[in-house]
Amino acid sequence: MVQRQVPNPAELLDLMKFKKPEFNGKKRRLDAALTIDDLRTIAKRRTPKAAFDYTDGAAEGELSLTRARQAFQDVEFHPGILRPAPAVDTSVDILGGPSALPFGIAPTGFTRLMQTEGEVAGAGAAAAAGIPFTLSTLGTTSIEGVKAANPNGRNWFQLYVMRDREISYELTRRAAAAGFDTLQFTVDTPVAGARLRDKRNGFSIPPQLTLGTIINAIPRPWWWYDFLTTPKLEFASLSTTGGTVGELLDAAMDPTISYDDLAVIRDIWPGKIVIKGVQNVEDSLRLRDAGVDGIVLSNHGGRQLDRAPIPFHLLPEVRKAVGDDFTVMIDTGIMNGADIVAAVALGADFTLIGRAYLYGLMAGGRAGVDRTIEILRSEIERTMRLLGVASLAELEPSHVTQLTRLVPVTRTASDAVVR
Ligand SMILES: Cc1cc2nc3c(=O)[nH]c(=O)nc-3n(C[C@H](O)[C@H](O)[C@H](O)COP(=O)(O)O)c2cc1C
Repeated sequence: MVQRQVPNPAELLDLMKFKKPEFNGKKRRLDAALTIDDLRTIAKRRTPKAAFDYTDGAAEGELSLTRARQAFQDVEFHPGILRPAPAVDTSVDILGGPSALPFGIAPTGFTRLMQTEGEVAGAGAAAAAGIPFTLSTLGTTSIEGVKAANPNGRNWFQLYVMRDREISYELTRRAAAAGFDTLQFTVDTPVAGARLRDKRNGFSIPPQLTLGTIINAIPRPWWWYDFLTTPKLEFASLSTTGGTVGELLDAAMDPTISYDDLAVIRDIWPGKIVIKGVQNVEDSLRLRDAGVDGIVLSNHGGRQLDRAPIPFHLLPEVRKAVGDDFTVMIDTGIMNGADIVAAVALGADFTLIGRAYLYGLMAGGRAGVDRTIEILRSEIERTMRLLGVASLAELEPSHVTQLTRLVPVTRTASDAVVR
């Protein structure tokens, strides 16, 4: 028999703890986002379809991106028990300097398209969090503008080598003069990948007003207000004619770049240099031997060659091949701090976030990027604590196994079926 009593008003009053209402709509919205996926949902609601799809989308069937995210979800962690980690140290030394967290902001083109604060929000949030910010060659804020937003923190510059080499060399010199300490030389864009969502949306730069875009704009007035009342959206460092993003990329990129270009850039650039877009062991070894300071295992967030290798799967074999002393970074598919912890456990020195940052930006400008970093930070710290490690250096491959659904099977000639 359950014992019952007359409800006691004093107990009832005790239960009624109404939260103080939050009148700042942006803060309310961002506080309610607990994951990067939550930020993505808010971003989608607030951003015109063409701009959201340009960010969220990838190439062709978007298999590379789906698989990269799946590979992280297929991580199985192996915690140690009764190893107290009352405080965790998430800081790392990367490319000759500190970072408070094991990730930095990846270079993204056209960032002010997503939300008008663009790179200034990214660089400011990176400065506040003590992590590096990377400005893209196709950025919409100038090198000097980023420096002003992150004057004392670490700025990195991402270089595309253009058909007109002088443009690239000049940008390299400007970034060096502004005190950027690392150059990411991107090598996975001999031509633009086929971003089918952009084609279907008729997405072009600058954005064109069609009946469709106007209808789509109605529930997103703030984006349009920002767009129309802030300086014109254009590449800050390049002057190009308009077109689809693919056309602009194809006009600017040179499909013939080679190791000779690397040697020239090496001569111009005084700081650290890393190659972004490495996708196999042989290239990793060759680049190490060519004397670069590091590599980024990346398939450009699935925006170039669809069905490209999953960087997270490549990581252990690349680390084994290049040894412990060569800097290996990784990106593509990171949506959770636990993804970053898994990457570090399998040998990554550092990671980069692209869309996770942009979802935050679209969800709430600078405050949204701060929220992205906060979410990832708390996920990293919690995962480390639950694994029983107090510092990133304690993470080991044995902390991670991967469920095997997506693991590639290498075929040799002797495996061939003889018919
Ligand atoms: C909208 C967008 C624009 C990008 N622009 C550039 C770029 O200009 N240069 C570059 O090297 N990579 C660019 N990338 C690739 C990112 O630097 C990074 O490799 C990728 O976003 C990582 O995958 P993730 O988005 O899953 O984190 C871009 C990615 C996105 C999503």
